[in-house]
Amino acid sequence: MGLRAICEARDLVPAAREPCDLLIRGASQLATPLGSSPRGGQALAEVRVVENPQVAIRDGKVLAVGPANELEGRFAAAHVYEAEGCLLLPGFVDSHTHPVFLGTREEEFELRTRGASYVEIAAQGGGILSSVRGVRSASKEQLLAALATRLERFLAHGTTTVEAKTGYGLTMEDERKCLEVIAEADRHHPVELVPTFLGAHDFPPEYRDRRDAYVQLLEEEMLPEVAESGLARFCDIFTESHVFGIEDSRRLMLRAKELGLGLRLHVDQLTPLGGAELAAELGASSADHLEFVSQAGIEAMAGAGVVPVLCPLVPLYLRVDQEVPARRMIAAGLAPALATDFNPGSCYTQSLHEVLTWGALRLRMTVEECLVAATLNAACSLGLGATHGSVEVGKQADLQLLDLPSYRHLCYEFGRNPVVAVVKAGRLVWPAVHP
Ligand code: NIG
Ligand code: FE
Repeated sequence: MGLRAICEARDLVPAAREPCDLLIRGASQLATPLGSSPRGGQALAEVRVVENPQVAIRDGKVLAVGPANELEGRFAAAHVYEAEGCLLLPGFVDSHTHPVFLGTREEEFELRTRGASYVEIAAQGGGILSSVRGVRSASKEQLLAALATRLERFLAHGTTTVEAKTGYGLTMEDERKCLEVIAEADRHHPVELVPTFLGAHDFPPEYRDRRDAYVQLLEEEMLPEVAESGLARFCDIFTESHVFGIEDSRRLMLRAKELGLGLRLHVDQLTPLGGAELAAELGASSADHLEFVSQAGIEAMAGAGVVPVLCPLVPLYLRVDQEVPARRMIAAGLAPALATDFNPGSCYTQSLHEVLTWGALRLRMTVEECLVAATLNAACSLGLGATHGSVEVGKQADLQLLDLPSYRHLCYEFGRNPVVAVVKAGRLVWPAVHP
């Protein structure tokens, strides 16, 4: 009896409140995927929705998340963020971008609106080679300053992690310069960068008439040096009929894999080459674009666990009618990611919000599917599923707060940036006020 009485008495004393660094309260709704592996097929549409949520953050990670009536009074927070009815989402993960360049290519946009194609413009020395001229003439400082400005814009649109490709240098020296710029920006800017080496983006002008020699240079010198440097996590290639064919792609990607780099491939974007099948055969982390993918390619990717990274704004921007068969991919159980493909030529936007709308309108994905694709699945394609892409206890606290009444407004409203605040690894980083 004595012992029981003591316990009851203790229950009357308010429990000691747990310390946390930041408490976010007053949001109207939280919508997030759950888990750490890619969500495909029917599971792609499953999101956890919490009305009146609170999130407690400690040491950069989510300490607790749930409805306010369950969390209220449990935490002694060093800082409180009053979300004033905002929608709370995981920070977006942009799993395909080319953000290291100097100079823009608006004249190509105008040429395309008048009927020229992407490949025609490239054949005349424009396209990727135009950006190669920009990067080769740029200093590291210039590239870093340009990248920093772009990272601010990613953050302003709710994107907290960005895969960043090189590919506008195409010499070891210029590619290394770009990888170092990415590493430097990653150290100093809240947006987290995942570096990808894309030395096989095109054939540099000096190798125009001896393409085999460039493939050999990549295989024997550039790839080993990149792997040795530790500056790239992934290796990518533009597998397309006018650049790197299937055989060259297989050869280079096998070498990259042997050197310990993860693989991502630009495939089946403009012509049906069988690039998805190659990505599956190689066990790539992602196969990107895929407008012209075959049914066999879809099935091969499903069997090999390749994440298809879809960029629905790109065909629109290139005025290509062919659309990615996203519904067929989802029916086959694939777990797509959605990405901007931000670059100065084929898609000059940093807004995943805009991409979500086009994912719904052109790829016929539901709003839930779009949300999962731009967060958890994108994180998984980068090997970050265990720590990124959802708002769950133990994961990194990467969040965005939006001026939207519910997550169902995500694709529905477009042309306006609804992001009010962004938290990266537990710090309020946008607007640039630190708690
Ligand atoms: O993903 N396809 C190749 N690379 C980019 C375009 C890069 C460029 O035109 O500068 C893309 O679309
Ligand atoms: Fe790309």
